[in-house]
Amino acid sequence: MKKTDVVLGLQWGDEGKGKVVDVLTPGYKVIARFQGGPNAGHSLHFNGESYVLHTIPSGIFREGTVNIIGNGVVVDPVILSQEVDELEAAGANLTDCLKISKKAHLILPTHRILDAASEAAKGKAKIGSTLKGIGPAYMDKTGRNGLRVGDIISGEFIERYNRLKEKHLGILSQYDYRFDITQYEEQWFEGIEKIRRFEFIDSEHVVNKFIDDDISVLAEGAQGALLDVDFGTYPFVTSSNTLSAGACTGLGIAPSRLGEVYGIFKAYCTRVGSGPFPTELFDADGERLREVGREFGATTGRPRRCGWLDLVALKYTVMLNGITSLIMMKSDVLTGFDKVKVAVAYNTPHGATARFPYEVDENTEPVYMEMEGWSEDISKIRNYERLPESFRRYVEFIESECGVPIRIISVGPDREETIMR
Ligand code: GDP
Ligand code: IMO
Ligand code: MG
Repeated sequence: MKKTDVVLGLQWGDEGKGKVVDVLTPGYKVIARFQGGPNAGHSLHFNGESYVLHTIPSGIFREGTVNIIGNGVVVDPVILSQEVDELEAAGANLTDCLKISKKAHLILPTHRILDAASEAAKGKAKIGSTLKGIGPAYMDKTGRNGLRVGDIISGEFIERYNRLKEKHLGILSQYDYRFDITQYEEQWFEGIEKIRRFEFIDSEHVVNKFIDDDISVLAEGAQGALLDVDFGTYPFVTSSNTLSAGACTGLGIAPSRLGEVYGIFKAYCTRVGSGPFPTELFDADGERLREVGREFGATTGRPRRCGWLDLVALKYTVMLNGITSLIMMKSDVLTGFDKVKVAVAYNTPHGATARFPYEVDENTEPVYMEMEGWSEDISKIRNYERLPESFRRYVEFIESECGVPIRIISVGPDREETIMR
């Protein structure tokens, strides 16, 4: 038996999961996405080319790898088929290397409209959703109304689609929201036809057989632990379990069959959409992180909110996920700051705490520790010992606070700009 390793984000998403999965893939035969959907945007850079994946696992560019869209994922056939077209236009042939779980749920055109109508109705209290229909699709899944990929090949697909659509139209009539789904619906059915050529699999059986046969599987998370529906900054979260536990339910792998859990974090913090962010910066430092780090959403293009690293939050998500190895991304972006800060506690109306509290809001003030910065260009360095001393002190402080080693350090977006320890 070969245990399955997991890669996931420890902050509010966009930590660099796409890059890390691409870097780790040569060590695996199978890469499987376990939750989320096209709200994700995972970027990869290599050989001077850039790609953004939304539904397809980030192992797709490494030859011989099997890529599985797991049961925990929600699939929009329009976006998936566009992704396939783009990759195939660039020379790939995905027919044999991409498999889709029959139990993955479908995002209907009306799910997208419901998402938009719900956000519009919330006004200022909106979540800042990517508006891909994620929340409504997961609501239908847990409400036991959903349509699944396996239903595409059942005889009653159109009838079931229409029944669910009618239900959605009934709900939408309660909103003051105008829409027209004709065009998207047309594309949706075209997308359904296009994805039929992929094998729809009983992914839980397939994945467990791989595990039995000593074939290495890497589970790829989407979003980040602070967007988890249970433990994130609710209600400003996504609608799935983004934690390592989500890899169990999103692929049908028992906890005892998980191995290494890699937790990815940026050397600072970012967030897109609404919701609390204690270390957010509204000054020139924040602007600099956004500019140097090119912090604009890979899915929506929205500017990301930026701030210092938050160890209160990081320690919380290390705990929730049972992280065994940390991976620090975008270290190069901090180069040139005289001082770098990390939050080690919060001052709250209920007193100071180093433990991530139930209520995190505008009254949650970070307590910072200030550390010496570094000015050397670190993006060409590949050996940990060659890194500036103050940078290594930063790394080692985070390790000692989290109690977990940082095994990979990323110093640039490219595959090659990576330091293995
Ligand atoms: P994901 O959603 O976790 O896969 O992350 P995204 O792809 O949405 O956002 C991460 C962004 O940072 C992408 O544009 C990456 O190309 C870029 N990136 C990843 N690692 C590094 C790094 O070490 N340095 C810099 N400067 N950029 C990086
Ligand atoms: P990756 O996988 C960053 C955020 C949205 C919004 C909230 C809910 O690229 O890291 P949703 O569309 O799920 O209803 O949005 O979650 N969000 C992400 N933020 N990276 C992501 O994915 C995200 N997926 C959702 O901005 O605040
Ligand atoms: Mg992203």
